[in-house]
Amino acid sequence: MQSNLLKVLNGQTLERPPVWFMRQAGRYLPEYRALREKHRMLDLINTPELAMEVTLQPLSRFDLDGAIIFADILNPLMDLGFELDFIQGEGPKIFNPILSTKDIQKIIVPEQLKCVQPTLKAISMCREALSKRSIPLLGFCGAPFTLSAYLIEDGDLGSLARTKRMMMEFPKDWHLLQEKLTDFLELYLVSQVEAGAQALQIFDSWVGYLGQLQYTEFVLPHLQKLIKGIKSRVSVPLIYFSTSTAGIFKVVKEVGADGYSVDWRCRLSDIRTVLGNNVPLQGNLDPMILAGPQDQLIKCVKNLLEEGSKIGPYVFNLGHGIIPQTPPDNVRAVVKLIKGR
Ligand code: CP3
Repeated sequence: MQSNLLKVLNGQTLERPPVWFMRQAGRYLPEYRALREKHRMLDLINTPELAMEVTLQPLSRFDLDGAIIFADILNPLMDLGFELDFIQGEGPKIFNPILSTKDIQKIIVPEQLKCVQPTLKAISMCREALSKRSIPLLGFCGAPFTLSAYLIEDGDLGSLARTKRMMMEFPKDWHLLQEKLTDFLELYLVSQVEAGAQALQIFDSWVGYLGQLQYTEFVLPHLQKLIKGIKSRVSVPLIYFSTSTAGIFKVVKEVGADGYSVDWRCRLSDIRTVLGNNVPLQGNLDPMILAGPQDQLIKCVKNLLEEGSKIGPYVFNLGHGIIPQTPPDNVRAVVKLIKGR
């Protein structure tokens, strides 16, 4: 029998929405922090047994409808020759960022995946572990634009000034970088499905810094190619997540995803109007509210459930990832409210 999450991602409307949370595995869970004290972030990702343990941690606590494989959007860039690490208290650091167009020309897309093999192994193991519980496993990657921003900004993403300059001053090189990332990400996502992922999500966390014209010229064609390429090779639902894009959603929806995940700066019903009926929508509780006082939280979740019940196929999620300050009890309360049990 198909799980509720896959039903909705395939276009069905359910009375109660399925629920999962972006970044549902991570530092807000004491059991994650305990593991993290013993292991580096990259070691957690690259040891399939540990990656599986972290992936399953939130599912042992909460009645969630989906699991997302524990990895990051950045570590796969190591397969393109980038050296990086996750520095405690600081976040990701890329040691050889893109400083000039020469650095783009040097990038070689591998014919076979190497560095991400542990993630593919972890996907197979999680799929096996989850099949008994009929909980679908999501694979994911960063979108070409968001990954480019991390590669080009060298630390502080702030206004994306360097990324936008590169895009406008050297459009040919920009498109070359997008093509290389797109080729690589197609291989990576298809491999995740072959390893057992039952749905995919592409995270475009920084793309809302662009206006409509720039999105259309510098981002859209590459996402279309990526999504088309994946769909020609595997058939699982694919969600596109972006933030701060409500104002340009009529262009965003042209990427051709099966479902769209949006942030809390917009109303789901407004996005629904732009998308048209029957396209799965996911979102969009403010993660700050999930971390806040329970009376406010419950009020907002009820509101969102009410709105979600009127907009066709709907998956309950956050508008962005869980923040480390989130009390696990708040997550439990939300899941209980959604499930009615
Ligand atoms: O959702 C999940 O539970 C799966 C795991 C997952 C992680 N990162 C683990 C992680 C996923 C889906 C991501 C996606 C990701 N990573 C995004 C897209 C979503 C978003 O939040 O915008 C981005 C932009 C990144 C890049 C990244 N990774 C940053 C900026 C940071 C540091 C700040 C932060 O939010 O933690 C990371 C580190 C990271 N990725 C951690 C985890 C659990 C914390 C690392 C630690 O334990 O020290």
